[in-house]
Amino acid sequence: QASPLYAQCQGCHQPTGAGIPGVFPPLAGHVPEILAAKGGREYLIQVLLYGLQGQIAVKGTRYQGVMPAYAQLKDEDIAGLLNHISTQWGNKFPAGQQPFTAAEVRAQRAKTLTAAQVLEARNKLGLK
Ligand code: HEM
Repeated sequence: QASPLYAQCQGCHQPTGAGIPGVFPPLAGHVPEILAAKGGREYLIQVLLYGLQGQIAVKGTRYQGVMPAYAQLKDEDIAGLLNHISTQWGNKFPAGQQPFTAAEVRAQRAKTLTAAQVLEARNKLGLK
């Protein structure tokens, strides 16, 4: 389903959410495993607010790029974007998880992190 908010992501992550292997990581089939990790919801909000930079691996493929920060978006729009990528392309919230709210985004905005700190947060998720 088309989303005007996701239009600003799809140049990199692609309309299919598949990304570009080795260049832009996939969101399809991947966001649910982040959501399922302890701290995963907070991490996803932080990626949107503060960006992400440094080496990561997704399903065995490495990425070392720059994810831009989208702090200029309203809390409700960041929540809307995260709800979009959590429910498109066959993605689903893990059992028991509710959609993101603007209040959750506001709580992460109060932290003021760098993209490098967001990478540290990712490293603590224990993603495979
Ligand atoms: C990483 C979402 C826009 C490039 C990520 C991750 C998410 C995400 C959730 C983390 C994946 C993980 O930790 O495994 C989004 C959304 C966007 C957006 C919702 C729109 C608001 C973009 C754009 C670009 C981009 C426009 C390219 C200019 C990247 C890269 C990474 C990444 C390169 C990995 C960073 C690294 O290698 O450290 N994105 N993204 N993203 N995104 Fe985006």
